Amino acid sequence: MRWRVTPAVIGGQTEVPGDKSIAHRALMLASLSSGFSRINRLPGGADVRSTALCLRRLGADIRIDGDVAFVISTGRLFASSAPLEAGNSGTTMRLLAGILAGQPFTSCLIGDESLSRRPMTRVVEPLNSMGASIQAHQGGAPLEIHGRRLHGIDYVLPVASAQVKSAILLAGLFADGITSVLEPHRSRDHTERMLAAVGVEIQVEDLRTTLRGGQAPHAFTMSVPGDLSSAGFLLVAAVLSGGEITIDQVGLNPARSGLLGVLGEMGADIEILGQRQEMGEPVGRLRVSGGIQRPVTVEAAQVPGLVDELPLVVLLATQAPGTSVIRGAAELRVKETDRIATVTSSLRRLGADLDELPDGFVVRGPTHLHGCNVSSYGDHRLAMLLAVAGAIAAGETVVDGVEAADVSFPNFAEFLRSLGGTIEQV
Ligand code: S3P
Repeated sequence: MRWRVTPAVIGGQTEVPGDKSIAHRALMLASLSSGFSRINRLPGGADVRSTALCLRRLGADIRIDGDVAFVISTGRLFASSAPLEAGNSGTTMRLLAGILAGQPFTSCLIGDESLSRRPMTRVVEPLNSMGASIQAHQGGAPLEIHGRRLHGIDYVLPVASAQVKSAILLAGLFADGITSVLEPHRSRDHTERMLAAVGVEIQVEDLRTTLRGGQAPHAFTMSVPGDLSSAGFLLVAAVLSGGEITIDQVGLNPARSGLLGVLGEMGADIEILGQRQEMGEPVGRLRVSGGIQRPVTVEAAQVPGLVDELPLVVLLATQAPGTSVIRGAAELRVKETDRIATVTSSLRRLGADLDELPDGFVVRGPTHLHGCNVSSYGDHRLAMLLAVAGAIAAGETVVDGVEAADVSFPNFAEFLRSLGGTIEQV
């Protein structure tokens, strides 16, 4: 499937689908609690559906009606006779590995070709040191997980990864004693916030998170905040095309909102209105306007707060007068694609002036982008990045492989169109 995109001013008011990271965790914690949970605004993307499918295979009764999920669980999971299919979703595979490490049965987690290439030793190693027996295939999926009675560990994360941190904390629920994780930089803390909201005692002190094993979450009702990572595409499209945009009910977790800081530093006006809390997560209305006036420097400590938005930061930098530098982002090489390579080569085709670093980018701006044929390489965020680039590139941009966007933002093209975008499926 392809999109044809031509320049347009993007702006207006919208909501975006619920946050994918939070939705995975909500489905998992509801399945681990005993009783009836209701999750409103469940996003419809393929990644979240993968998590629901795996949990159903493990015995949770999950019904999805539109964007509402009803979960009935005994709080216990049961062995699945079939392999558990995580599809394209790293969060599904890594967080479930943590839960399954502590179950009294054996499971097999599999993924698609892209997920099977991604590193799993980062979860296998700490979970095995808690007492599980997990075999990976050449460091990746399939993962054969022999669940065991676990014991707590004190673990220093070598990379700032919310998925690895969460896998260890979720395993810690099934471990004897105390589990403690120290991260090098603050990564998204949705697991910690949600565990606290469902009655699990958890301590967060600076970069260390600690919980005691044997605690069970209680059932809950929640509305998933809008996904700031999905909103990011629309925000950047508006800023670069000269529009003004308002996004309602969007998640504003400070460990996720690095893009807003970068937009502000580069010269855009950001306004946050009517903040409230939902299951411990800040949610509000976001208004963004103004253009890009300055380049930006992003360092390692900032990376986890905007790791999925870095391709958008690179696109912003192509329009900033001066040289922008992004460093400490080697994690981008092990995402759905090697995003340092795919973003660099795709934006170069559109006329951008940028170089790869081993762990980031150097981008010289401003450059006039021109439309051409580009590919998503099967990566959802690249498909949407290139559509946003197409909205400011002269002429016509054709993006191939755009079905990938369904992984996190189904109907992205309709959203962009409803905000003034000229994007059509061809
Ligand atoms: C996620 C954590 C991040 C992010 C991913 C979702 C999560 O991955 O890139 O899209 O939900 O915990 P890492 O933990 O690998 O940094």
